[in-house]
Amino acid sequence: MCGIFGCFLKNENAAPVIHSSLKRLEYRGYDSVGIATISEGTLFIKKGQGKIDIVHKDLNLDDLPGNFGIGHTRWATHGAPLQINSHPHSDCTDKITVVHNGIIENFNDLKIELQNLGHTFVSKTDTEVIPHLIEEIIKNKPALSLANAVQEATKRLEGSYAIAVISSYEPDKIVCARNESPLVLGISNNGIYCASDIPAFLPLTNKVVMINDGELVILTTDGYQIKKLQDGSTLERAPERVEWSAEMAVKHGYPHFMIKEIHEQSEVLRNTMRLQDRYLDLMSTFLDRATEIFLVACGTSYHACLAASYMFSKLAFLPTYPVYASEFIEQYGKAVNIDSTILAVSQSGETADTIAAVATAQQRAATILSLTNTIGSTLTRISRVYIGTQAGPEIGVAATKTFTSQLSVLAQLALRLAKKRGKVSQSEIDVLDAQLEKLPDLVDTIVKTQEEKVKQIVHKYANSKVIFFLGRGISTATAFEARLKLMEIAYIPSVAFPAGESKHGPISLIEQGTPVVFVCQKDDTHKTVIGNIMEMKARGAKILAIIEEDDNEIKPLVDDYLEVPKNIPSVLSPIPYVVPLQLLAYYMALEFNYDPDMPRNLAKSVTVK
Ligand code: G6P
Repeated sequence: MCGIFGCFLKNENAAPVIHSSLKRLEYRGYDSVGIATISEGTLFIKKGQGKIDIVHKDLNLDDLPGNFGIGHTRWATHGAPLQINSHPHSDCTDKITVVHNGIIENFNDLKIELQNLGHTFVSKTDTEVIPHLIEEIIKNKPALSLANAVQEATKRLEGSYAIAVISSYEPDKIVCARNESPLVLGISNNGIYCASDIPAFLPLTNKVVMINDGELVILTTDGYQIKKLQDGSTLERAPERVEWSAEMAVKHGYPHFMIKEIHEQSEVLRNTMRLQDRYLDLMSTFLDRATEIFLVACGTSYHACLAASYMFSKLAFLPTYPVYASEFIEQYGKAVNIDSTILAVSQSGETADTIAAVATAQQRAATILSLTNTIGSTLTRISRVYIGTQAGPEIGVAATKTFTSQLSVLAQLALRLAKKRGKVSQSEIDVLDAQLEKLPDLVDTIVKTQEEKVKQIVHKYANSKVIFFLGRGISTATAFEARLKLMEIAYIPSVAFPAGESKHGPISLIEQGTPVVFVCQKDDTHKTVIGNIMEMKARGAKILAIIEEDDNEIKPLVDDYLEVPKNIPSVLSPIPYVVPLQLLAYYMALEFNYDPDMPRNLAKSVTVK
C-alpha cells in the first residue's frame, strides 16, 4: 500500500509540492521515499531509505528543478526497504522513470524475458519491470508516443497497479494508469495533481476527478486527458468537489481508522491472493519436512495461529502447536531443537515476546519461518523464510485487516501442504481454492449487508456485565478474536471458550439476560452447537448468533442473528465470520463514545516483554 503522487505546476517548482504531498501520504507507508522531476528535458531523481523527514534531511528533496514530477512513499512488498528498492525505478537508459502502487503478479516472468533481451535490473522490486517494458516497447516502435507505450506495457502486466511515468523522451507530460490500485486527480488554478489518495493534495484543491480501473491519464500543462487502456478511446470526466476535512480525507471519509480498515478487508484479501507461488511453496516445503511445528504469536496474531492449527490439521493432516509467544520460552524453550520449526506470526514483526521466543528457538537451531505485515522488521531479518501478509499499514490499534490477511495466507499454506501431502482430493482442493478466491467479494457483501443490522442491535447488548463468545472447532478461534476485539475497545468484560468447555465452569456465570454470542458455521459441529445454544437458553441467556444465511434451524432459537453467505468451507470460515463481530465491537465502542482507534492502555506494537 504505497503512496504515489505527481504534479504539473504552472508557475512553481514541483519538488517542494511533491515532498509535502508525500508527507500527507505517509500513512500509506514510509519505508523509503523518492522524487523525480524533469527540467529542460533532463530527468532528475533523488531517493532514499527511511521516513521522508530523514531522507529529506540527508538529500534535500526540495531542490530538484522543474515544474513537474512524480514521487513515491513506499510500503515494502517485493524487496526489502532499502535505497536500491526505493521508487522511482528507471529503465536501462535512465530516460523513463516510474512510481507504482500495487503488485505485479507476473513480474518474475517479465523480468526473465527482459533480462534475456539484455535489460539490467538493479532492484528486487516487481515495479522495475515497468520502465524496462516501456523502454523495450519504445525501442521496437520508436514512433510510439509515451502514452501509447505505457498503454501497451500495461497489457503485459498482471496484478494491481497505479503508476505515474515521466520520461525525458517527452519532457512535457506525466502518464498514469490504473488497475485495482487507487488513483485520483486534483485540479487547481496553480496546477494539476495525480495521487493515490485525496489527502495528498487536499490543502491545494478539493476539485477531484476519480480514475477508474482500466484507464490511462495524460497530465500536461494544459490539463488532463483520460483514455481507456483497452482501446485508447477518450473519456470525458469533469471534476467534482469533495467536502472532506484533511483529517476525514486520511480516513477516506470514515470517522475512524478501524472502520476504514474493516471496509478495506475485501481489497486486502484480494492482495493476499497475489502472493508469489515460490514463497508459498518454499514455506510449505519447510513445513512439510518439519518434525514438529509451533505457531507462535501474541494477541490477534495468536488467534490466527489458533485457527491455522485447525486448517493444517484438517487439510494437511499435520499437527501444529499454537503457543502464546509470552509463554513459549517457559513452556517449550528447553524442548525445541534442530528438528523444531517455528512459524511466527506478527503484523508488526517487532512484538518483543514473539521476537524473544523466536530468538530462543533460533539459538537452539530450530528453523524460523514467519508471516508479517512489515517487511524489513526484526522478524523478517531473523527468519529463514518469511511471507508478507499484504494488508497495508494498519493504524487502528485493534487489528482487523491484518488478522484476515494472516488467515488468508495461512489457509493458502495449508492448502499447499494438503496438495503436497496428498491428503485431500484434487476436487476438494479445487473447491477450496475457488472459495478462497471468492472470499474478498463475500467479505464485501458481509460488510454491506450486516453493518446496518449491527448498528440496530448493538444497544441491546451494550449494558452487560459480561458477554460470552462461544464457538466449536475452528470457530473457537473466531470466538476468541471476537472477545478480544470487544474487550479491547468497548471495555466490556468478555469470556470466550470452546462451546464444549462452557459447561465446565463458565456456564455458572449465566443469569437471566446474559448475552452469549455463538459462532455457528455450518459444518460437523452444527448440531452440537445447537445443543449448546439450548443449554444457554435454558439458563436465561440472550443469544446472538453468527449464522450462515437462511440457517432456519438456528434462527428461531436465538434473539438476534447476523448472517454470512452460504457454503463457506469450515476451514475458511474465520475470515468471513469474524467480520460481523469486528463490526459489533466497533459499534459497541461507539455506543459508549470511546475512541476505537486508541483504546486505553494498549499499543499497536508492544515492544516490551
Ligand atoms: C498488540 C496489538 C494487537 C496485536 C498484538 C500482537 O497487543 O494491540 O492488535 O494483535 O500486539 O502484535 P503483532 O504485531 O505481533 O501481530
